[in-house]
Amino acid sequence: KKKIAVMTSGGDSPGMNASVRAVVRAGIYYGCDVYAVYEGYKGLLEGGSLLKKMEWSDVRGYLSEGGTLIGTARCMEFRERWGRKQAAKNLITEGIDALVVCGGDGSLTGADLFRHEWPSLLEELVSDKVFTEQDIEPYKHLNIVGLVGSIDNDMSGTDSTIGAFSALERIIEMVDYIDETAKSHSRAFVVEVMGRHCGWLALMAGIATGADYIFIPERAPKCGEWQKELKEVCQRHRDKGRRNNTVIVAEGAIDDQLNPITSENVKDVLVEMGLDTRVTILGHVQRGGTAVAHDRWLGTMQGVEAVKAILEMTPETPSPLIGIRENKIITMPLVESVKLTKEVASSIDNKDFDKAISLRDSEFIE
Ligand code: F6P
Repeated sequence: KKKIAVMTSGGDSPGMNASVRAVVRAGIYYGCDVYAVYEGYKGLLEGGSLLKKMEWSDVRGYLSEGGTLIGTARCMEFRERWGRKQAAKNLITEGIDALVVCGGDGSLTGADLFRHEWPSLLEELVSDKVFTEQDIEPYKHLNIVGLVGSIDNDMSGTDSTIGAFSALERIIEMVDYIDETAKSHSRAFVVEVMGRHCGWLALMAGIATGADYIFIPERAPKCGEWQKELKEVCQRHRDKGRRNNTVIVAEGAIDDQLNPITSENVKDVLVEMGLDTRVTILGHVQRGGTAVAHDRWLGTMQGVEAVKAILEMTPETPSPLIGIRENKIITMPLVESVKLTKEVASSIDNKDFDKAISLRDSEFIE
């Protein structure tokens, strides 16, 4: 009987629970035993009660709950080889050789490395006399499947990551509230949103709320010149009768010399214009709360697809990443997608902003 483990890793995102529920139930439906790894990679390392066999009813109610009910953690030990060896030992002890990881690019890269090292980790466990050759015989290959759970929508090759639309919904609700008080006082507001290396949340929120100006890392304005343009745009809108100004700043915003553009920098410019200005940093409000329909659907469809991918995998199949493109659930090689995502970040670092945008939007090339 195939034994599959499912875990969530890195920052939580709404919809992760839907994907865990789908892996558990699809796994059981296809005749597998399914385990939940609690607390992310920490659970793999510690094993024991953090590796729990799941029943159909264990995930009842998961669709409408925010965060990740099986927990997540940023685990430094898993970055070390001894940590991964410990994780391999725990998985084999439970008889598990397939793992579905729902997380961001860092968590997925870690998972793929684990898969590559698996045969040598097993050899070491045999030479350490933890297992015999016979013990490890049925577990020669580790199957890994990745699902992207991230509110930032920061993975190349997939149109949306699990949680991004929920965070966006939360942001625009908050900006609507802010706009009401801003209009009452004729104020300007700088709203800082999450998105470490990716401006998707800021851009989409800006469009959805009709913000005056948006700062995102992928479209870095000219150093020393953006201040003038910001003032002109805000003034033009005031002249047309707008009673408030809203500027959305992605937390990773920079200028074309890679200087950070912080919400305080932006506020100072608006204050220079004589505007009564406040800053609101939305913070983790964006990550909490229940998932919108899109993320529940996405987590569910991708969770089912992950189980199917495991059942169809051969030792030669590269670790797949389940994504969505043009409204279709798709499968692509995990390493390629992560590589493309890293190239976007490095083109931003090399001030090649056009390349960053085209890579982010690029069709995935297999
Ligand atoms: O990766 C998602 C994200 O929300 C980023 O936008 C943000 O920088 C980060 O997580 C903050 O995470 P934490 O506070 O959990 O370290």
